[in-house]
Amino acid sequence: MTFHQSEHSLLVIPGPIEVSDDVLFANASPSQSHMSKSFTQTFGEVIKMFRQVLVTEHGQPFIVAGSGTLGWDMVASNLIEPGDEALVLHSGYFGQSFTDCLETYGAKVTQLKAPVGHCPSREELAQALKAKKYKIVTVTHVDTSTGVLSNPRVISEVVHEVSPDTLVVLDGVCSVGSEEIRMDEWSLDVVMCASQKGLGVPPGLSLVCASERAIRLVETRKTKINSYFASWLNWLPVMRGYEQGKPVYFATPPVQLICALHVSLKEITSKPIQERWAKHQQASIDFKQFVTDELGLKQVPNDPSIAANGMTAIYFPDGLSASDIVPRLLERGIVIAGGLHKEIKDKYFRIGHMGISVIDTTTRHDLEKVKDALRNVLNAAGYVNKTVGNNTK
Ligand SMILES: Cc1ncc(COP(=O)(O)O)c(C=O)c1O
Repeated sequence: MTFHQSEHSLLVIPGPIEVSDDVLFANASPSQSHMSKSFTQTFGEVIKMFRQVLVTEHGQPFIVAGSGTLGWDMVASNLIEPGDEALVLHSGYFGQSFTDCLETYGAKVTQLKAPVGHCPSREELAQALKAKKYKIVTVTHVDTSTGVLSNPRVISEVVHEVSPDTLVVLDGVCSVGSEEIRMDEWSLDVVMCASQKGLGVPPGLSLVCASERAIRLVETRKTKINSYFASWLNWLPVMRGYEQGKPVYFATPPVQLICALHVSLKEITSKPIQERWAKHQQASIDFKQFVTDELGLKQVPNDPSIAANGMTAIYFPDGLSASDIVPRLLERGIVIAGGLHKEIKDKYFRIGHMGISVIDTTTRHDLEKVKDALRNVLNAAGYVNKTVGNNTK
């Protein structure tokens, strides 16, 4: 059966993103038992393919019903015992949320906060690690509120140099599937994400991958894990069972979403993952060039080297605000996101370019549509790009 999703506005917020017809069709798979042979095979393959996306051989995936937020709960409830010290590298809104979650489970959190548009430097991190011993360091790979891209490879290098026992946790909710991540090579202890961004699946799945070191730490902790649903000890037999072809029950998996993820991961892993990263990078370079050179607008990240490849955060030109742009784009069938970071909330907007919007450039022309619409909307609002001295059209 050939399935085509219905006509709808183009969703280019930084997640959830557009999903392919095949993925959406799999999300409407007929009912099947979560203990059946066919589903067991599907789930087992999903677990293995998720490892491929993170370029890890040894990481232990946990794929459960939930969203990215559940990944924070998993990290905090499993790795933190009351009173443990945690260092949060803060490059936007989501650093604060991770902090709140860690504190919920009794962590003593220090935040290394960068000004809006920046991320903490290597030197600041080294200094913080020398000043206090931390059990974990967390980093938001792409802070979706600012579009700032951190460098987990360098961060992990510094942590391993200065404080080798400290675990490195990567919030990859807005980066897995769109940014380069090499979990084993970079010695990351946890990478967590969700289904609705770079993985190109509807919302509803929390995906976490833990290193052998992180699993050992959970298995030898002194206090009881302060969560039931998020406990890795409850999920470990399930994940290992499905991977070995033997279904194990703890809580019912979201069967259809796992089927959808299976289709998406098959698409993703059918080519070298480096190609996917490169396509996101090229699309991002093109789009950002359009924003800065043709439109003359300013990005939120203060330097191109720390701008995400899966999204762009852009300041409104002087005199314009969300009400001049966002509803007018919507009238043209394009859904973008307004601001989120509270210090600059009304001053900028965000556009996502992840998944099929950048991978499928033969049948879709998503970013071209976005560019045309932005040009027209800015024109209609009376904006003139003074840097080139004429109207944007
Ligand atoms: C970087 C980052 N971390 C965590 C989250 C929370 O994920 P969710 O909304 O799926 O719970 C988000 C959501 O957009 C995010 O962008």
